[in-house]
Amino acid sequence: MARVYVTRTVHFNAAHRLHNPAKSDAWNRRTYGRCNNPNGHGHNYALEVTVAGEPDKDTGYVLDLSDLKRIVQDKIVDKCDHAHLNMDVDFMQGVLPSTEQFAIAIWRELENALPAGALHKIRLAETNNNSVEYFGE
Ligand code: NI
Repeated sequence: MARVYVTRTVHFNAAHRLHNPAKSDAWNRRTYGRCNNPNGHGHNYALEVTVAGEPDKDTGYVLDLSDLKRIVQDKIVDKCDHAHLNMDVDFMQGVLPSTEQFAIAIWRELENALPAGALHKIRLAETNNNSVEYFGE
C-alpha cells in the first residue's frame, strides 16, 4: 500500500455578497464588512483539489491529471470564473458564499464527478492570507 496525494491548483475570479437576511443590516455590515457591499465585490480565488489513492499498476497514476483538470474546469472554473457566486452559479444558489460554505459546495460538486473515494481535500483561498480546508463530512 502506497497512498499518494495528488493536487491540482486552479485560479479564478468571482464576485460574491455575504448577507444573512435573518439579521439586521447593521449586523451584516459589522459581521461581513466589505463582503456585505450591496452590489457584491470580487475575489481572486485559488482552489487546490487533492485526490488520494494508490498509483495504478499500468499507468503509474493515482488519477490521470488530464481527467482531473477537465473535471475541475467543467464543474467549478467554467461556472464560477468572472461570475457572481450568489446569482450566476447553480450550485451556490441559496448558499451564503463564505469561503467555508463555498469549499463545502465545491467538494459536493467534485465528489460526484470523481471516482468513488478519490477526493481527499479541498483547499480554497479567498486572499493570499486566508484559506480554508475541507476533507468531506
Ligand atoms: Ni468578499
